[in-house]
Amino acid sequence: MKNNILSKIIIGGLLFTSFYGNAQKTNLEVDVTETITKIQPTMFGLFFEDINFAADGGLYAEMIKNRSFEFEKPLMGWEQPNTKRSSLNMNSGVATPIKVAENETNPNFCRVLINDDKGYAIINEGFRGMGVKKDAKYNLSLKAANHNGAIKKIIIQLIDKDKKVIGETSIVPVSNEWKSYSTQFTATQTEAKAKLKITFEGTGTIDLDMISLFPEDTWKSRKNGLRKDLVQLLYDMKPGFLRFPGGCIVEGRTLADRYQWKKSVGDIENRRTMMNRWNVEFNHKQTPDYFQSFGLGFYEYFQLSEDIGATPLPILSCGMACQYNTGELAPIEELDPYIQDALDLIQFANGAEDTPWGKLRSDMGHPKPFNLKYIGVGNEQWGPDYIERYKVFEKAIKTKYPNIIIVSGSGPSPDGEHFDFAMAELKKLNAELIDEHYYKSPQWFRENASRYDNYDRKGPKIFAGEYAAQSVSGANPNNRNNWECAFSEAAFMTGLERNAEVVNMTSYAPLMAHEDAWQWTPDMIWFNNLEAYGSANYYVQKLFSTNKGTDLLNITKEGKPLTGQNDLYVSAVKDINTKEIIIKLVNTAVKSQDITIDLKGSKLAAKGSVITLTSPNLQDENTFAEPKKISPKENVYNLKGEKAEINLPSYSVIVLKFKIK
Ligand code: AHR
Repeated sequence: MKNNILSKIIIGGLLFTSFYGNAQKTNLEVDVTETITKIQPTMFGLFFEDINFAADGGLYAEMIKNRSFEFEKPLMGWEQPNTKRSSLNMNSGVATPIKVAENETNPNFCRVLINDDKGYAIINEGFRGMGVKKDAKYNLSLKAANHNGAIKKIIIQLIDKDKKVIGETSIVPVSNEWKSYSTQFTATQTEAKAKLKITFEGTGTIDLDMISLFPEDTWKSRKNGLRKDLVQLLYDMKPGFLRFPGGCIVEGRTLADRYQWKKSVGDIENRRTMMNRWNVEFNHKQTPDYFQSFGLGFYEYFQLSEDIGATPLPILSCGMACQYNTGELAPIEELDPYIQDALDLIQFANGAEDTPWGKLRSDMGHPKPFNLKYIGVGNEQWGPDYIERYKVFEKAIKTKYPNIIIVSGSGPSPDGEHFDFAMAELKKLNAELIDEHYYKSPQWFRENASRYDNYDRKGPKIFAGEYAAQSVSGANPNNRNNWECAFSEAAFMTGLERNAEVVNMTSYAPLMAHEDAWQWTPDMIWFNNLEAYGSANYYVQKLFSTNKGTDLLNITKEGKPLTGQNDLYVSAVKDINTKEIIIKLVNTAVKSQDITIDLKGSKLAAKGSVITLTSPNLQDENTFAEPKKISPKENVYNLKGEKAEINLPSYSVIVLKFKIK
């Protein structure tokens, strides 16, 4: 494999297929009647983390950055272009952040003093601009307290990059006291980098807070909801589960800034904004304006899981801050609040309406339980401190909720001292589902397709919870979502599927990244304020997820699984619902290869289908300009007799589907 890729690079990109002689033939056999094991419905899922502006500035469709003036610098994201000195040595107007300490969750608001009619404005820059679409409707809401009725009108305008007005509305602030206002308007132009400009009629003082702008057209038309195009990409994958809210964001750089789910539910206004830990994590990508509004909080995550048909998988802090940062530890005797968070979360998700947390869920709009089955204890912790804490959590959760399946972690690497220690300890504890993470080279993925072949079938089940091939190296800003990474993941995924007896859950990570505001690459889905596309890796994930089947079949070459011999990888499943046999083949060679598959057992219909995902060059990628450059193409496949013959193009992922008669 390595040699083939090297040869191709040396040859300078020319595909000298003939150099390798005629396409070689590989004969495979599959017994389509014998189920090896059931495939878990959760097999292929999603890992969501608020990294790369994935939540605020991404999935959560709010367009105003720092709507409640709660960033560390309360006016971050807001400009005041006309605040200049006049001849009277006064500002035409000025905005000043005011803090009301008694309001613990939303202490700041913005006091605006308008001195004259010289056009004082405050402007919100959005999340690297605001994406607005011609003829689309936008909902603006804000809270205002108009001192002595001084301000006659608040004028709200969307402006394009040349400051031209492309949408306008106004609000008459009628009350001295805090009051909520809302209005809707239509954009007259499509613009990727719009801003929201607010001007005033009248002079005097007005207080403003919770200035919010959402598109009317959100996922499921939910008011102030999620970005439709992004959720659609997730929905289309038919994911088995949704893990949230991360990732390292769960842990926090310190315990104080860990993710606390209770602070992410209830009234939006009272969800206290806080720093996003990724804002200063990497020198190569500082994003000091990255905060979490928690508008996308745990209720919304559960709702999203339900919407996209995914089992919810929340992960909680186990009292250990990120070990790459402070590694701060909650002493064992002070773990109670952390454990209580886990128990209360289960009640929030599943409890009856007459329980305190079940009531909150119901009050928020979901009387029925969310049917939570899994909970994760810690994200990517390692060492004895983790095991010690895991034991306490396990005891408390299982005592109260014996049927909840606990996900434990094996640290950040799929091998080495920390991994070996965690696996040995968790095995002793009969852990149910262990999360493994691998951010490795494409070559590693190709070479590790047999990773799980020898895992103990009676031991803990595996959640391959975070993985992605890194074209350069882990957490390197030059990593690309290129085709070599994607097909190498596909090769590895045949190994995940072949080992469905052990591997019950898998997810690529991270999920999403904003074109102008990311910190980590590669990522499965890329978006800007107007558009989104799935990377080649997305299409690999989607092919597996939408063709996962229900029963694992054994497919072999001379009695052995194909795990990279001749640069070939294969797995096979049956779907008892759609009555299909589905075979996944990955050719990681520079040359095409002929395959014959002997399909033994049931009678199959002559007309099947073949889905091909391929691209000629290792470095090929999808982009905003060519979002579907690497995407599946489906064709009819005609089966003659019991043997399927197929030519696998170079660098290809193929899904063959046959109907059982
Ligand atoms: O996916 C990005 C990060 O990688 C996750 O937050 C963390 O769990 C892992 O180290």
